[in-house]
Amino acid sequence: MWQLENMEKSITFIQNMPKVELHLHIEGTLEPEMMMQLSKQNGVEIPYLTIEEIRKAYQFSDLQSFLDIYYAGAKVLLHEDDFFDLTFAYLQKMHQENCRHVEIFFDPQTHTSRGVPIKIVINGISNALKKGKEEFGISSHLILSFLRHLSEEDAIKTLNEALPYKDKITAVGLDSSEKGNPPSKFISVFELARKEGLLTLAHAGEEGPAGYIWQAIQELHISRIDHGVHCSEDANLIDYLEKTRLPLTVCPLSNVKLRVFDTVEQHNIKELLDQGLCVTVNSDDPAYFGGYLTENYIAIAKGLHLKPQDILKLASNSIEASFLSQEEKGDLQAELEECYNSVISRDSY
Ligand code: HPA
Ligand code: ZN
Repeated sequence: MWQLENMEKSITFIQNMPKVELHLHIEGTLEPEMMMQLSKQNGVEIPYLTIEEIRKAYQFSDLQSFLDIYYAGAKVLLHEDDFFDLTFAYLQKMHQENCRHVEIFFDPQTHTSRGVPIKIVINGISNALKKGKEEFGISSHLILSFLRHLSEEDAIKTLNEALPYKDKITAVGLDSSEKGNPPSKFISVFELARKEGLLTLAHAGEEGPAGYIWQAIQELHISRIDHGVHCSEDANLIDYLEKTRLPLTVCPLSNVKLRVFDTVEQHNIKELLDQGLCVTVNSDDPAYFGGYLTENYIAIAKGLHLKPQDILKLASNSIEASFLSQEEKGDLQAELEECYNSVISRDSY
């Protein structure tokens, strides 16, 4: 009973606290309803007859089995309005979850390879982000992510196409099939991006080894690691991440859906938190993995028996790891603390 009451309090805290999302692929917010609607509207065939059929297809055995379905789904996105509607629908959800700041990825090559100009993609997404700020007060940064299964030449071409819109982009990232596509494949394009004043991020250590995380740090000079859960294989790396507080954007429900961990109970985020790492909670591709930000927090709170202080630390880490200014970080940290004090009475744990 005591435990049940305290879990209820933790859930209320999760629901009410001001949140930050740092690892979200906008194409991964395409809900089956919108996929079906755009498929009809744009005359793009998808291999499903009903919304239920789409949902049923979302059973994945690993990263690649997900990516195949994810890239097929993204084909329904053609027009600037499609990218706008997709992004704005995500921001409406985030507003309901009291999310205050988002840093989101988009994959231009998924669209330019189908003949959709990068301008359409960037304008659709960034106009929705602007409206999200005006209507909901949600601040944002946009991150251009390269597909690592494609060549570095293709990534360089994509960077050059994006440069006229550089004022709308904060950083470049690296996603898609990790195994066999190490960070070292992209040293030159990341160097070019840094010379243009862009920050750098990379997915590393999701399915790949701890060595890929070292490469992202040493060769791509990243500001954060996306996923990074395989760092636990390497004690020196854990030590480095603890000392530098280089953040990891962890995505619990994604990791379970893609079988990085068999169950949420086996996830290592609590262990990494206890080791002093700057781990954060994120949703990755929520339309495919069964939960947005709040659901990711609740899943680990329950599965890993998190204390309210653990949840507070995770939420605080996300503010620390964001690209917000020091002043904005301070304001949000104060609000988070206030929410913690009002929901969790100090003597209950
Ligand atoms: N990993 C790699 N690439 C991706 C992912 C992911 O979790 N989601 C979308 N692209
Ligand atoms: Zn991701």
